Amino acid sequence: MSTSTQAKRQAFNPAAEIATMERLISKYSVTDIPPTPLSETTGTKLDFASSSPQGVFKPVAFITGTTGNLGSYLLSSLLCSDKVTKLYAFNRRGSGSIRQRHVAALQDKGLDVKVLDDKRLILLEGDLSKDNFGLDPKIYEQLRINVTLFLHVAWPVNWMAPLSQFEQSIHGTSNLIRFAKTSPNASHLRFFFTSSISSCVSFRDDGYITEDALCSPKDALGMGYGQAKYIVDRILANSGLRNASTLRIGQLSGCQNTGVWSPFEWIPVIIRSSVSLGCFPFNPGVRSKRISWQCV
Ligand SMILES: NC(=O)c1ccc[n+]([C@@H]2O[C@H](COP(=O)([O-])OP(=O)(O)OC[C@H]3O[C@@H](n4cnc5c(N)ncnc54)[C@H](OP(=O)(O)O)[C@@H]3O)[C@@H](O)[C@H]2O)c1
Repeated sequence: MSTSTQAKRQAFNPAAEIATMERLISKYSVTDIPPTPLSETTGTKLDFASSSPQGVFKPVAFITGTTGNLGSYLLSSLLCSDKVTKLYAFNRRGSGSIRQRHVAALQDKGLDVKVLDDKRLILLEGDLSKDNFGLDPKIYEQLRINVTLFLHVAWPVNWMAPLSQFEQSIHGTSNLIRFAKTSPNASHLRFFFTSSISSCVSFRDDGYITEDALCSPKDALGMGYGQAKYIVDRILANSGLRNASTLRIGQLSGCQNTGVWSPFEWIPVIIRSSVSLGCFPFNPGVRSKRISWQCV
């Protein structure tokens, strides 16, 4: 073991890590805001039963992270269906125009770029951790009044970064939850956060983690990424949003139609490295003999 690895192991203090996690949960939990009454806004109350001739509710969706892997599949699949009436795709700024980055993301996966011409799609750039998400206040208010489905996918997927590097993303997610809570639709909107099984990475019981249970903070110890996801899971649970769900995703695999699998996921990385190394691990980090792949 190298001296630096030894030093890191010695410096690891579970009690201090758990205290930091609890502090961040407390700092970013949104428990002070009740849903804004409809009369205080110009919004129209949604009538779920009659919002379409079939009585099926078609939401106005706000989705983050659509320049990424899962997000671009979600964007494509929502726009290839008639499940949403409008879709706001919100991403951080980057090099190249927002449209160019979406074209690249879709082409990369063999997805049809024509979906970007869909009139229901509005591409937005901003920063959830800033005031008004860095958007024009009029657009921000339009979103607040109209959005009825939140899919929060954007996240720095970095297994090596310490918890401190995720604070901006935790802050941004807390702002998004706060935003949803002040919506005139707060009592019935849906909110999904793409969490991860790494929020329970250190769970060592023989039993199962049930869907409704949150793990203990100690079960999230081991990687900053998982700790940060756990923190958001708790913030979401504390929020009082009625229809909020955290999705504990495992390893995403390739697309069920095209087979395209992001080359940056760990299994493709192991396979690519094995070509150079000329060997393949006997057990590539898989504890269970049964693998249940989740296709996108
Ligand atoms: N891949 C998996 O197997 C897996 C497993 C469990 C959970 N998840 C979760 O599923 C979600 C999507 O994962 P993915 O594999 O699609 O990731 P991805 O391909 O890396 O895409 C991440 C998305 O988030 C954006 N993003 C990254 N860092 C950001 C930051 N600091 N601020 C704002 N936006 C940021 C990226 O924008 P840019 O394009 O500008 O970089 C991109 O749109 C994430 O929440 C991830 O934690 C994934």
